[in-house]
Amino acid sequence: MFTQDQLKQQVAQAALDYVLPQLQPDSILGVGTGSTVDLFIDLLAAHRAAFHAAVSSSERSTRRLQAAGIAVLDLNDVKSMALYVDGADEIDHQLNMIKGGGGALTREKIVASVADRFVCIVDESKLVEQLGGFDLPIEIIPLAREAVIREIRQLGGGPQLRDGFITDNGNQILDVAGLYYENDPAAFEAMLNNIPGIVCCGLFAISGAHVALVAGQNGVSRLELQDD
Ligand code: 5RP
Repeated sequence: MFTQDQLKQQVAQAALDYVLPQLQPDSILGVGTGSTVDLFIDLLAAHRAAFHAAVSSSERSTRRLQAAGIAVLDLNDVKSMALYVDGADEIDHQLNMIKGGGGALTREKIVASVADRFVCIVDESKLVEQLGGFDLPIEIIPLAREAVIREIRQLGGGPQLRDGFITDNGNQILDVAGLYYENDPAAFEAMLNNIPGIVCCGLFAISGAHVALVAGQNGVSRLELQDD
């Protein structure tokens, strides 16, 4: 039996194998955040000459990329990006995701929005039939905390402030249990986006992943939605 850490290592290697043939010397690579991505960054270090630079979704990943000798560009200086590689807390078979366990969801959603393709890298424990087992992270403006909490309770959710945690953007995170959105996660994401004080929610359904690499006991499998 492989441990979860071993599966993360395997999917990090699979991500490198998937990404490398697509990189050109002028390519910009979007890089997410988390323990799986950390392993991917470590592998990427040996191939830094294969692409121009990275755009990072967190201070944590920026530090790791730079320590690996990989140049990190400000997103404002980048017009396009072919690939964005990131983990997830849950992903379903339609490649909708819950993200934000590491608290970087807002920058992750922004950087991913600039990329042509989102490559999600997970171990098999993250692949679910229906999203919702993982409490939904929501980044909020601190001033709006109690107002947002009241709105979330109206929706049937149980919000919990992530104690002592401040995002890279200076905001707070609510982890919300008990929300029901399995019928239409994209509509639910849009509704949450409209609540004043919510900066970003960890549902990635309006725009999900394009491909998922999933490491399991029998190897790494690839899930891909057909283009419309
Ligand atoms: C960070 C994220 C991560 O992708 C998610 O939490 C998965 O992390 P890990 O690879 O450590 O399991 O969304 O905000």
